[in-house]
Amino acid sequence: MKIELSDKLKSFKPFLFEELYRKERAERAKGKDIISLAVGDPDIPTDRRIVADAVKEIKNGRNHRYPNTKGNENLRREAAAWHKRRHGLTFHPHDEISILIGSKEGIAHLPFVVMNEGDTCLIPDPTYPTYRTGVVLCGGKVHDVALEEKNGFLPDLGKIPQKVVDRTRLFFLNYPNNPTGAGATLDFYKDLVKWARKNNIVIAQDAAYCEIYFDEPAPSILQVDGARDVAVEFYSSSKTYCMAGWRIGWVVGNSKLVCALNQLKENIDSGPFNAIQNAVAYGLKHHEKIVPPIRAHFKRRAAAFCAALKANGWQFPDPKGSCFVWARPPVRCSSMDAVYHMLEKSSILTAPGSGFGKYGEGYVRFSLTEPDVKLKEVERRIKTLDWSSLRK
Ligand SMILES: Cc1ncc(COP(=O)(O)O)c(C=O)c1O
Repeated sequence: MKIELSDKLKSFKPFLFEELYRKERAERAKGKDIISLAVGDPDIPTDRRIVADAVKEIKNGRNHRYPNTKGNENLRREAAAWHKRRHGLTFHPHDEISILIGSKEGIAHLPFVVMNEGDTCLIPDPTYPTYRTGVVLCGGKVHDVALEEKNGFLPDLGKIPQKVVDRTRLFFLNYPNNPTGAGATLDFYKDLVKWARKNNIVIAQDAAYCEIYFDEPAPSILQVDGARDVAVEFYSSSKTYCMAGWRIGWVVGNSKLVCALNQLKENIDSGPFNAIQNAVAYGLKHHEKIVPPIRAHFKRRAAAFCAALKANGWQFPDPKGSCFVWARPPVRCSSMDAVYHMLEKSSILTAPGSGFGKYGEGYVRFSLTEPDVKLKEVERRIKTLDWSSLRK
């Protein structure tokens, strides 16, 4: 039998990072000592107290039964308590918070609950690629919204054509931003909420990097009056607690959207392992002890790495948060030329800005999620890199 794959599947290109992993493996097979700063996968191990709690929870037979899709009450209550401490906001754990199998899962499913075939979703450019997934699967259209350096990598709402706005049901954003490292202010969120309410558009603000900020704590869009009428926010334990492999996230905000997403997911998954949910609940409960050293670590790394890049002619605004540096190489060239040049001449693998969208062209993304010794070695290699062959 000849198996025919669906048109929908064919419309997906391989996930950007899979392509990069493949390239890295091929170079390693040639015997090269590749250092990869291409993906944002934190190297810092999960706090030993969270691990110890997880071990205890794994041994508890009560956790061996099915979880429920929206997440266990312990975790939803701890998430609500954390939002109260962190943002001064009260969320009902029953219908304003739902647990996800990593925020990526919820992000990919959200379009199904608000979009019909032909509806438009606004997606930033450059972007985190998963925002497109659900939109494409539910037959929606994507309208790219430029994030430009001159605007602090914030979208210019006035530039989105009104006829696009009229067809739009959903707008994905993420601050602190992957890939640019930019931050959003509460004033920006106020304007955005006002605009979204006027135009009847759901806002999905992805706060995966909200705890990796370098100056002021990153605000939540839900702090804006009226935001709960139009917005949900996605949270993740992956970067906050360096638990990327454990797969827990949550969605919080507008209860109609939170419950609708949960209703959809009840037909797809049965929620993450209760032992792991309880371990994340432990992390949230002890957040103020566990997270500041992680944040300080990323801040120190970013300061040292940015200084080294700038000393070698790279140009960029300093990141406000996240674990990324988004920079233009010392000579004007395409993102791919820059990435191949670094890979071939210095065995450094980075992510090409153009892979995140057309407005990413000319940039390279460095992910500071490798141990400090490796980052120092990258700094050393960058210093010796000769860019003259790419000078036009
Ligand atoms: C902007 C952004 N959102 C969401 C995610 C997914 O995080 P999670 O591990 O919670 O699925 C990532 C992961 O890299 C990300 O960069």
